[in-house]
Amino acid sequence: MFAEEWTKTYLQALQEVRKSIGLCRMFITGLNTNIDGLRHIKGEEVKKVIAEKNLEKEIQSKLKKPPREIRTFPDVLAGILLCAKTGEGEEWFIRDPKIRDMIKSTFGYDKLRMGGQCGIMTNVLALLGFTVIPNVVALPPIQAEQFTTKRGEILIPRIEGNKIVFKKPLEAARENDKIFIHWIFEFDDQFSVQINKETVKAPVENRFIATYDDENVKLKIDPAFQEGTLEVISEVGTAMLSGYHMLQSNYPDGSKPEECIKKTIDLIKSWKERNPELRIHSEIGFVADDKIRKSTLNLLTLNVNSIGLNEGELADNLYTIGHRDGLNEIRALNSIKTYLGARKIMDKFRLSRIIIHNREYSLCLINSLHGIKPQNELHSVLFGALLAATLAYTGNFPTINDAEKALKSGELKISRKALTEHQRLATFLENEEGYSQEKFLKDGFTEIEPSIIFVSSNLTEPRATVGLGDTICSASLAAEEALTRREQKTR
Ligand code: GLC
Repeated sequence: MFAEEWTKTYLQALQEVRKSIGLCRMFITGLNTNIDGLRHIKGEEVKKVIAEKNLEKEIQSKLKKPPREIRTFPDVLAGILLCAKTGEGEEWFIRDPKIRDMIKSTFGYDKLRMGGQCGIMTNVLALLGFTVIPNVVALPPIQAEQFTTKRGEILIPRIEGNKIVFKKPLEAARENDKIFIHWIFEFDDQFSVQINKETVKAPVENRFIATYDDENVKLKIDPAFQEGTLEVISEVGTAMLSGYHMLQSNYPDGSKPEECIKKTIDLIKSWKERNPELRIHSEIGFVADDKIRKSTLNLLTLNVNSIGLNEGELADNLYTIGHRDGLNEIRALNSIKTYLGARKIMDKFRLSRIIIHNREYSLCLINSLHGIKPQNELHSVLFGALLAATLAYTGNFPTINDAEKALKSGELKISRKALTEHQRLATFLENEEGYSQEKFLKDGFTEIEPSIIFVSSNLTEPRATVGLGDTICSASLAAEEALTRREQKTR
Protein backbone atom coordinates (compact mmCIF):
# COMPACT_ATOMS: atom_id res chain seq x y z
CA MET A 1 0.00 0.00 0.00
CA PHE A 2 1.19 3.51 -0.77
CA ALA A 3 0.51 6.47 1.51
CA GLU A 4 -2.83 7.39 -0.19
CA GLU A 5 -4.06 3.81 0.05
CA TRP A 6 -3.20 3.68 3.74
CA THR A 7 -5.21 6.84 4.31
CA LYS A 8 -8.18 5.31 2.48
CA THR A 9 -7.86 2.12 4.51
CA TYR A 10 -7.79 4.18 7.71
CA LEU A 11 -11.03 5.85 6.71
CA GLN A 12 -12.63 2.54 5.84
CA ALA A 13 -11.56 1.09 9.22
CA LEU A 14 -13.02 4.10 11.02
CA GLN A 15 -16.35 3.65 9.26
CA GLU A 16 -16.46 -0.10 9.88
CA VAL A 17 -15.69 0.24 13.57
CA ARG A 18 -18.06 3.18 14.05
CA LYS A 19 -20.95 1.08 12.69
CA SER A 20 -20.32 -1.74 15.16
CA ILE A 21 -18.90 -0.04 18.23
CA GLY A 22 -22.34 0.00 19.90
CA LEU A 23 -22.20 -3.80 20.13
CA CYS A 24 -19.86 -3.57 23.16
CA ARG A 25 -21.06 -2.22 26.46
CA MET A 26 -18.78 -2.47 29.42
CA PHE A 27 -15.04 -2.66 30.05
CA ILE A 28 -12.92 -3.21 33.13
CA THR A 29 -9.62 -1.37 33.45
CA GLY A 30 -6.85 -1.73 36.05
CA LEU A 31 -4.66 -1.20 37.92
CA ASN A 32 -2.74 2.12 37.90
CA THR A 33 -4.48 5.46 37.92
CA ASN A 34 -2.65 8.70 38.67
CA ILE A 35 -2.39 12.30 37.55
CA ASP A 36 0.17 13.31 34.95
CA GLY A 37 1.78 16.71 35.38
CA LEU A 38 2.78 17.50 31.80
CA ARG A 39 5.74 19.80 31.29
CA HIS A 40 7.15 20.60 27.86
CA ILE A 41 10.87 21.08 28.43
CA LYS A 42 13.45 22.89 26.34
CA GLY A 43 17.20 22.30 26.21
CA GLU A 44 18.02 25.83 27.43
CA GLU A 45 15.98 25.35 30.59
CA VAL A 46 17.90 22.23 31.56
CA LYS A 47 21.17 23.90 30.65
CA LYS A 48 20.37 26.88 32.86
CA VAL A 49 19.65 24.70 35.91
CA ILE A 50 22.81 22.66 35.33
CA ALA A 51 24.94 25.80 35.00
CA GLU A 52 23.42 27.51 38.06
CA LYS A 53 24.14 24.50 40.23
CA ASN A 54 27.49 23.68 38.61
CA LEU A 55 26.39 20.16 37.79
CA GLU A 56 28.12 19.61 34.42
CA LYS A 57 30.54 16.91 35.53
CA GLU A 58 28.06 15.07 37.74
CA ILE A 59 25.47 14.96 34.96
CA GLN A 60 27.98 13.73 32.40
CA SER A 61 29.01 10.87 34.64
CA LYS A 62 25.34 10.00 35.31
CA LEU A 63 24.74 9.91 31.57
CA LYS A 64 27.52 7.35 31.23
CA LYS A 65 26.13 5.26 34.08
CA PRO A 66 22.41 6.06 34.41
CA PRO A 67 21.11 5.57 37.97
CA ARG A 68 17.60 4.68 36.66
CA GLU A 69 16.07 5.93 39.90
CA ILE A 70 15.89 9.37 41.46
CA ARG A 71 17.68 9.88 44.74
CA THR A 72 18.98 13.40 44.08
CA PHE A 73 17.81 16.33 41.97
CA PRO A 74 20.63 15.86 39.41
CA ASP A 75 19.17 12.39 38.74
CA VAL A 76 16.07 14.12 37.35
CA LEU A 77 18.19 16.20 34.98
CA ALA A 78 20.17 13.11 33.96
CA GLY A 79 16.93 11.24 33.23
CA ILE A 80 15.65 14.02 30.98
CA LEU A 81 18.97 14.21 29.13
CA LEU A 82 19.33 10.45 28.77
CA CYS A 83 15.88 10.13 27.17
CA ALA A 84 16.60 13.13 24.94
CA LYS A 85 19.90 11.58 23.88
CA THR A 86 18.48 8.18 22.96
CA GLY A 87 15.02 9.35 21.90
CA GLU A 88 13.61 6.60 24.13
CA GLY A 89 11.01 7.07 26.86
CA GLU A 90 11.86 5.97 30.40
CA GLU A 91 10.22 6.23 33.81
CA TRP A 92 12.30 6.50 37.00
CA PHE A 93 11.00 6.43 40.56
CA ILE A 94 11.61 9.25 43.02
CA ARG A 95 12.90 7.83 46.30
CA ASP A 96 12.72 10.98 48.40
CA PRO A 97 9.55 13.13 48.53
CA LYS A 98 11.71 16.28 48.88
CA ILE A 99 12.75 15.87 45.25
CA ARG A 100 9.12 15.99 44.18
CA ASP A 101 8.89 19.42 45.80
CA MET A 102 12.14 20.51 44.12
CA ILE A 103 10.79 19.50 40.71
CA LYS A 104 7.64 21.46 41.43
CA SER A 105 9.48 24.62 42.38
CA THR A 106 12.08 24.36 39.61
CA PHE A 107 9.92 23.29 36.66
CA GLY A 108 6.25 23.23 37.72
CA TYR A 109 3.89 21.79 35.08
CA ASP A 110 1.98 23.14 32.11
CA LYS A 111 -1.16 21.11 32.69
CA LEU A 112 -2.60 18.14 34.55
CA ARG A 113 -4.12 15.22 32.71
CA MET A 114 -5.33 11.72 33.49
CA GLY A 115 -2.39 9.35 33.86
CA GLY A 116 -1.53 5.71 34.38
CA GLN A 117 -2.42 3.01 31.86
CA CYS A 118 -5.67 2.29 33.69
CA GLY A 119 -6.65 5.96 33.93
CA ILE A 120 -5.82 6.72 30.30
CA MET A 121 -7.56 3.64 28.91
CA THR A 122 -10.61 4.48 31.01
CA ASN A 123 -10.91 7.92 29.43
CA VAL A 124 -10.28 6.59 25.91
CA LEU A 125 -12.99 3.94 26.32
CA ALA A 126 -15.46 6.32 27.94
CA LEU A 127 -15.01 8.76 25.04
CA LEU A 128 -15.96 5.91 22.71
CA GLY A 129 -19.25 5.80 24.60
CA PHE A 130 -18.75 2.81 26.90
CA THR A 131 -19.34 2.11 30.55
CA VAL A 132 -15.95 1.62 32.20
CA ILE A 133 -15.10 0.34 35.66
CA PRO A 134 -11.54 1.34 36.62
CA ASN A 135 -9.43 0.44 39.64
CA VAL A 136 -8.57 3.63 41.50
CA VAL A 137 -6.68 3.32 44.75
CA ALA A 138 -6.46 7.02 45.57
CA LEU A 139 -9.33 9.27 44.52
CA PRO A 140 -8.96 12.80 45.88
CA PRO A 141 -11.20 15.32 44.04
CA ILE A 142 -8.26 16.49 41.86
CA GLN A 143 -7.85 12.90 40.59
CA ALA A 144 -11.61 12.45 40.11
CA GLU A 145 -11.66 15.61 37.94
CA GLN A 146 -9.31 13.97 35.44
CA PHE A 147 -11.96 11.43 34.43
CA THR A 148 -13.84 12.54 31.36
CA THR A 149 -17.52 13.34 31.74
CA LYS A 150 -18.06 14.11 28.05
CA ARG A 151 -19.28 10.70 26.92
CA GLY A 152 -19.77 7.17 28.23
CA GLU A 153 -20.02 6.40 31.90
CA ILE A 154 -17.19 5.86 34.36
CA LEU A 155 -18.25 3.97 37.47
CA ILE A 156 -16.22 3.60 40.66
CA PRO A 157 -17.31 0.73 42.90
CA ARG A 158 -17.72 1.59 46.59
CA ILE A 159 -18.81 -0.57 49.51
CA GLU A 160 -21.73 1.00 51.39
CA GLY A 161 -23.29 -0.95 54.18
CA ASN A 162 -23.02 -4.49 52.95
CA LYS A 163 -23.44 -3.82 49.33
CA ILE A 164 -21.57 -2.52 46.32
CA VAL A 165 -22.69 0.72 44.77
CA PHE A 166 -21.29 2.19 41.55
CA LYS A 167 -20.64 5.92 41.70
CA LYS A 168 -19.54 8.65 39.33
CA PRO A 169 -15.90 9.69 40.03
CA LEU A 170 -16.74 13.05 41.63
CA GLU A 171 -19.32 11.39 43.88
CA ALA A 172 -16.86 8.65 44.84
CA ALA A 173 -13.99 11.08 45.54
CA ARG A 174 -12.50 11.19 49.06
CA GLU A 175 -11.11 14.48 50.31
CA ASN A 176 -8.21 12.95 52.24
CA ASP A 177 -6.93 10.47 49.66
CA LYS A 178 -3.32 10.88 48.52
CA ILE A 179 -2.51 12.82 45.36
CA PHE A 180 -0.13 11.11 42.94
CA ILE A 181 1.29 13.41 40.32
CA HIS A 182 3.81 11.87 37.94
CA TRP A 183 6.03 14.39 36.18
CA ILE A 184 6.06 13.96 32.44
CA PHE A 185 8.91 15.90 30.83
CA GLU A 186 8.09 16.03 27.14
CA PHE A 187 10.73 17.17 24.67
CA ASP A 188 10.55 17.72 20.92
CA ASP A 189 13.09 17.01 18.20
CA GLN A 190 14.50 20.55 18.56
CA PHE A 191 15.71 19.77 22.08
CA SER A 192 19.45 20.37 22.31
CA VAL A 193 21.86 21.06 25.19
CA GLN A 194 25.59 21.46 25.31
CA ILE A 195 27.29 20.33 28.52
CA ASN A 196 31.03 20.93 28.50
CA LYS A 197 31.94 19.59 25.06
CA GLU A 198 29.10 17.10 24.79
CA THR A 199 25.97 17.96 22.84
CA VAL A 200 22.77 16.15 23.69
CA LYS A 201 20.33 16.40 20.82
CA ALA A 202 16.98 14.63 20.65
CA PRO A 203 16.62 12.53 17.47
CA VAL A 204 12.82 12.39 17.92
CA GLU A 205 10.25 13.73 20.36
CA ASN A 206 9.62 11.64 23.48
CA ARG A 207 9.35 11.93 27.26
CA PHE A 208 10.97 11.20 30.58
CA ILE A 209 8.72 10.36 33.54
CA ALA A 210 9.69 11.07 37.15
CA THR A 211 7.28 9.23 39.40
CA TYR A 212 6.57 9.55 43.10
CA ASP A 213 3.87 7.11 44.06
CA ASP A 214 3.50 4.70 46.96
CA GLU A 215 0.18 2.97 46.27
CA ASN A 216 0.12 2.18 42.55
CA VAL A 217 3.62 0.72 42.99
CA LYS A 218 2.07 -2.08 45.03
CA LEU A 219 -0.46 -2.81 42.30
CA LYS A 220 -3.13 -2.34 44.91
CA ILE A 221 -6.57 -3.62 44.12
CA ASP A 222 -9.33 -1.56 45.65
CA PRO A 223 -11.55 -3.98 47.68
CA ALA A 224 -14.72 -2.50 46.18
CA PHE A 225 -13.27 -2.93 42.67
CA GLN A 226 -12.54 -6.58 43.46
CA GLU A 227 -16.10 -7.18 44.66
CA GLY A 228 -17.85 -4.90 42.20
CA THR A 229 -16.19 -6.35 39.09
CA LEU A 230 -17.31 -9.84 40.13
CA GLU A 231 -20.92 -8.64 40.11
CA VAL A 232 -20.74 -7.39 36.51
CA ILE A 233 -18.13 -9.68 34.98
CA SER A 234 -20.62 -11.65 32.89
CA GLU A 235 -21.38 -8.47 30.93
CA VAL A 236 -17.73 -7.69 30.18
CA GLY A 237 -15.93 -8.83 27.01
CA THR A 238 -12.46 -7.41 27.68
CA ALA A 239 -10.50 -6.41 30.76
CA MET A 240 -7.31 -4.40 30.42
CA LEU A 241 -4.84 -4.77 33.28
CA SER A 242 -1.60 -2.86 33.44
CA GLY A 243 0.69 -1.11 35.90
CA TYR A 244 3.03 -4.05 36.51
CA HIS A 245 5.94 -1.85 35.45
CA MET A 246 5.43 0.15 38.66
CA LEU A 247 6.48 -2.79 40.86
CA GLN A 248 9.50 -2.32 43.12
CA SER A 249 12.04 -4.94 44.14
CA ASN A 250 11.53 -4.14 47.85
CA TYR A 251 8.78 -2.53 49.87
CA PRO A 252 9.13 -0.89 53.30
CA ASP A 253 6.61 -3.41 54.76
CA GLY A 254 8.77 -6.32 53.54
CA SER A 255 6.34 -7.56 50.86
CA LYS A 256 7.70 -8.84 47.55
CA PRO A 257 6.65 -7.84 44.02
CA GLU A 258 5.73 -11.45 43.26
CA GLU A 259 3.10 -11.37 46.02
CA CYS A 260 1.59 -8.26 44.47
CA ILE A 261 1.45 -9.94 41.05
CA LYS A 262 -0.12 -13.08 42.49
CA LYS A 263 -3.00 -11.11 44.01
CA THR A 264 -3.85 -9.78 40.56
CA ILE A 265 -3.69 -13.28 39.08
CA ASP A 266 -6.18 -14.46 41.72
CA LEU A 267 -8.45 -11.65 40.59
CA ILE A 268 -8.08 -12.69 36.93
CA LYS A 269 -8.85 -16.29 37.85
CA SER A 270 -11.97 -15.30 39.80
CA TRP A 271 -13.21 -13.36 36.76
CA LYS A 272 -12.45 -16.18 34.35
CA GLU A 273 -14.28 -18.68 36.55
CA ARG A 274 -17.43 -16.65 36.13
CA ASN A 275 -16.79 -15.64 32.53
CA PRO A 276 -14.49 -18.05 30.64
CA GLU A 277 -14.90 -16.04 27.41
CA LEU A 278 -13.37 -12.92 28.97
CA ARG A 279 -10.28 -11.60 27.15
CA ILE A 280 -7.51 -10.04 29.20
CA HIS A 281 -4.97 -7.63 27.81
CA SER A 282 -1.95 -6.22 29.61
CA GLU A 283 0.17 -3.26 28.52
CA ILE A 284 3.77 -3.92 29.52
CA GLY A 285 5.48 -0.67 30.52
CA PHE A 286 9.13 0.27 30.91
CA VAL A 287 10.74 -1.78 33.71
CA ALA A 288 14.37 -1.07 34.58
CA ASP A 289 14.78 -4.12 36.84
CA ASP A 290 15.45 -7.40 35.03
CA LYS A 291 14.19 -9.53 37.93
CA ILE A 292 10.83 -7.76 38.03
CA ARG A 293 10.53 -8.18 34.26
CA LYS A 294 11.15 -11.88 34.70
CA SER A 295 8.55 -12.24 37.46
CA THR A 296 5.97 -10.31 35.47
CA LEU A 297 6.57 -12.39 32.36
CA ASN A 298 6.50 -15.69 34.19
CA LEU A 299 3.56 -15.02 36.47
CA LEU A 300 1.32 -12.67 34.53
CA THR A 301 1.84 -13.38 30.86
CA LEU A 302 0.66 -16.98 31.05
CA ASN A 303 -2.63 -15.76 32.51
CA VAL A 304 -3.54 -13.16 29.89
CA ASN A 305 -4.57 -13.47 26.24
CA SER A 306 -2.86 -10.45 24.84
CA ILE A 307 -0.04 -8.00 25.61
CA GLY A 308 1.20 -4.70 24.19
CA LEU A 309 4.75 -3.33 24.22
CA ASN A 310 6.79 -0.64 22.54
CA GLU A 311 10.11 -1.35 20.83
CA GLY A 312 12.26 -0.74 23.92
CA GLU A 313 10.03 -2.90 26.09
CA LEU A 314 10.13 -5.69 23.50
CA ALA A 315 13.94 -5.60 23.42
CA ASP A 316 14.18 -5.52 27.25
CA ASN A 317 11.78 -8.43 27.71
CA LEU A 318 13.52 -10.50 25.05
CA TYR A 319 16.79 -9.88 26.87
CA THR A 320 15.14 -11.13 30.05
CA ILE A 321 14.15 -14.43 28.47
CA GLY A 322 17.69 -14.89 27.16
CA HIS A 323 17.02 -13.90 23.55
CA ARG A 324 19.85 -11.69 22.33
CA ASP A 325 19.34 -11.62 18.56
CA GLY A 326 18.74 -8.22 16.98
CA LEU A 327 17.84 -6.22 20.10
CA ASN A 328 19.49 -3.08 18.77
CA GLU A 329 17.75 -3.56 15.45
CA ILE A 330 14.43 -3.86 17.29
CA ARG A 331 15.18 -0.54 19.01
CA ALA A 332 15.92 0.88 15.54
CA LEU A 333 12.46 -0.43 14.45
CA ASN A 334 13.66 -3.15 12.06
CA SER A 335 10.42 -4.95 11.16
CA ILE A 336 11.93 -8.41 10.63
CA LYS A 337 13.62 -8.49 14.04
CA THR A 338 10.50 -6.99 15.62
CA TYR A 339 8.37 -9.73 14.08
CA LEU A 340 10.75 -12.51 15.14
CA GLY A 341 11.06 -11.08 18.65
CA ALA A 342 7.31 -10.68 19.07
CA ARG A 343 6.79 -14.22 17.86
CA LYS A 344 9.26 -15.56 20.35
CA ILE A 345 7.33 -13.99 23.24
CA MET A 346 3.96 -14.98 21.82
CA ASP A 347 4.98 -18.64 21.51
CA LYS A 348 6.83 -18.88 24.80
CA PHE A 349 3.97 -17.39 26.83
CA ARG A 350 1.14 -18.95 24.80
CA LEU A 351 -0.49 -15.63 23.96
CA SER A 352 -3.19 -15.40 21.32
CA ARG A 353 -2.25 -11.78 20.51
CA ILE A 354 0.75 -9.50 20.84
CA ILE A 355 0.97 -5.94 19.59
CA ILE A 356 4.19 -3.98 19.23
CA HIS A 357 3.62 -0.27 18.82
CA ASN A 358 6.37 2.13 17.92
CA ARG A 359 6.39 5.64 16.55
CA GLU A 360 6.39 4.56 12.88
CA TYR A 361 4.19 1.45 12.79
CA SER A 362 2.29 -1.19 14.77
CA LEU A 363 2.84 -4.88 14.28
CA CYS A 364 0.27 -7.25 15.70
CA LEU A 365 0.30 -11.04 15.71
CA ILE A 366 -2.85 -13.07 16.34
CA ASN A 367 -3.40 -16.80 16.24
CA SER A 368 -6.66 -18.57 15.51
CA LEU A 369 -7.43 -18.98 19.24
CA HIS A 370 -7.96 -15.24 19.38
CA GLY A 371 -11.10 -15.74 17.32
CA ILE A 372 -10.94 -12.71 15.03
CA LYS A 373 -10.38 -12.56 11.28
CA PRO A 374 -7.10 -10.90 10.21
CA GLN A 375 -9.01 -8.33 8.15
CA ASN A 376 -11.01 -7.32 11.23
CA GLU A 377 -7.85 -7.18 13.32
CA LEU A 378 -6.31 -4.88 10.71
CA HIS A 379 -9.30 -2.55 11.01
CA SER A 380 -9.08 -2.69 14.80
CA VAL A 381 -5.39 -1.79 14.89
CA LEU A 382 -5.93 0.97 12.30
CA PHE A 383 -8.71 2.36 14.45
CA GLY A 384 -6.51 2.30 17.56
CA ALA A 385 -3.57 3.83 15.69
CA LEU A 386 -5.77 6.60 14.32
CA LEU A 387 -7.05 7.47 17.78
CA ALA A 388 -3.46 7.58 19.07
CA ALA A 389 -2.43 9.84 16.15
CA THR A 390 -5.38 12.07 17.00
CA LEU A 391 -4.20 12.31 20.62
CA ALA A 392 -0.72 13.25 19.36
CA TYR A 393 -2.20 15.79 16.95
CA THR A 394 -4.63 17.50 19.33
CA GLY A 395 -3.00 16.83 22.72
CA ASN A 396 -6.38 15.59 24.05
CA PHE A 397 -8.01 12.19 24.43
CA PRO A 398 -10.03 11.76 21.24
CA THR A 399 -13.58 10.91 20.24
CA ILE A 400 -14.38 9.13 16.96
CA ASN A 401 -15.43 12.47 15.47
CA ASP A 402 -12.12 14.07 16.47
CA ALA A 403 -10.32 11.17 14.76
CA GLU A 404 -12.32 11.62 11.59
CA LYS A 405 -11.57 15.35 11.57
CA ALA A 406 -7.86 14.73 12.16
CA LEU A 407 -7.72 12.17 9.34
CA LYS A 408 -9.50 14.48 6.91
CA SER A 409 -7.43 17.53 7.92
CA GLY A 410 -4.49 16.39 5.81
CA GLU A 411 -2.20 17.09 8.79
CA LEU A 412 -1.51 13.41 9.46
CA LYS A 413 1.24 11.98 7.27
CA ILE A 414 1.81 8.27 6.69
CA SER A 415 5.23 7.30 8.00
CA ARG A 416 7.75 6.81 5.16
CA LYS A 417 9.83 4.57 7.36
CA ALA A 418 6.80 2.32 7.89
CA LEU A 419 6.43 1.85 4.13
CA THR A 420 10.07 0.72 3.92
CA GLU A 421 9.69 -1.59 6.91
CA HIS A 422 6.49 -3.10 5.49
CA GLN A 423 8.38 -3.88 2.29
CA ARG A 424 11.31 -5.33 4.25
CA LEU A 425 9.03 -7.68 6.19
CA ALA A 426 7.11 -8.64 3.04
CA THR A 427 10.32 -9.68 1.27
CA PHE A 428 11.39 -11.68 4.31
CA LEU A 429 8.03 -13.48 4.55
CA GLU A 430 8.11 -14.41 0.88
CA ASN A 431 11.67 -15.76 1.13
CA GLU A 432 11.35 -17.49 4.48
CA GLU A 433 7.70 -18.48 4.79
CA GLY A 434 6.58 -18.51 1.16
CA TYR A 435 3.86 -15.88 1.72
CA SER A 436 3.21 -13.68 -1.31
CA GLN A 437 4.83 -10.32 -0.69
CA GLU A 438 2.48 -8.68 -3.12
CA LYS A 439 -0.51 -9.87 -1.10
CA PHE A 440 0.91 -8.80 2.27
CA LEU A 441 1.79 -5.37 0.87
CA LYS A 442 -1.66 -4.96 -0.65
CA ASP A 443 -3.69 -6.26 2.33
CA GLY A 444 -1.63 -5.20 5.36
CA PHE A 445 -2.14 -8.65 6.89
CA THR A 446 -1.23 -12.29 6.24
CA GLU A 447 -3.43 -15.33 6.42
CA ILE A 448 -0.99 -17.71 8.01
CA GLU A 449 -0.68 -18.89 11.60
CA PRO A 450 -0.05 -16.62 13.42
CA SER A 451 -1.44 -13.89 11.24
CA ILE A 452 0.69 -10.74 10.97
CA ILE A 453 -0.99 -7.36 10.89
CA PHE A 454 1.10 -4.36 9.85
CA VAL A 455 -0.16 -0.79 10.24
CA SER A 456 1.77 2.31 9.15
CA SER A 457 1.46 5.18 11.61
CA ASN A 458 0.09 8.60 10.86
CA LEU A 459 2.68 11.13 11.95
CA THR A 460 2.11 14.70 13.01
CA GLU A 461 3.79 17.54 14.86
CA PRO A 462 2.93 16.09 18.27
CA ARG A 463 1.16 17.95 21.06
CA ALA A 464 1.29 14.81 23.22
CA THR A 465 3.75 11.95 23.49
CA VAL A 466 2.40 10.18 26.55
CA GLY A 467 -0.50 7.74 26.48
CA LEU A 468 -0.17 6.92 22.78
CA GLY A 469 0.47 3.21 23.38
CA ASP A 470 -2.40 3.05 25.88
CA THR A 471 -4.69 4.68 23.33
CA ILE A 472 -3.77 2.32 20.49
CA CYS A 473 -4.28 -0.65 22.74
CA SER A 474 -7.55 0.26 24.40
CA ALA A 475 -9.17 1.55 21.22
CA SER A 476 -8.00 -1.41 19.14
CA LEU A 477 -9.26 -3.87 21.76
CA ALA A 478 -12.66 -2.18 21.86
CA ALA A 479 -12.78 -2.28 18.05
CA GLU A 480 -11.74 -5.93 18.10
CA GLU A 481 -14.56 -6.80 20.45
CA ALA A 482 -17.07 -4.82 18.38
CA LEU A 483 -16.05 -6.49 15.10
CA THR A 484 -16.02 -9.94 16.72
CA ARG A 485 -19.52 -9.38 18.07
CA ARG A 486 -20.63 -8.26 14.61
CA GLU A 487 -19.32 -11.52 13.10
CA GLN A 488 -21.10 -13.57 15.77
CA LYS A 489 -24.35 -11.75 15.11
CA THR A 490 -24.31 -12.37 11.38
CA ARG A 491 -23.36 -16.03 11.74
C1 GLC B 1 3.20 5.26 33.30
C2 GLC B 1 3.29 6.51 34.17
C3 GLC B 1 2.07 7.36 34.01
C4 GLC B 1 1.75 7.61 32.54
C5 GLC B 1 1.69 6.30 31.78
C6 GLC B 1 1.51 6.51 30.30
O1 GLC B 1 2.24 4.43 33.83
O2 GLC B 1 3.46 6.15 35.52
O3 GLC B 1 2.27 8.57 34.69
O4 GLC B 1 0.54 8.27 32.40
O5 GLC B 1 2.90 5.57 31.98
O6 GLC B 1 1.46 5.33 29.59
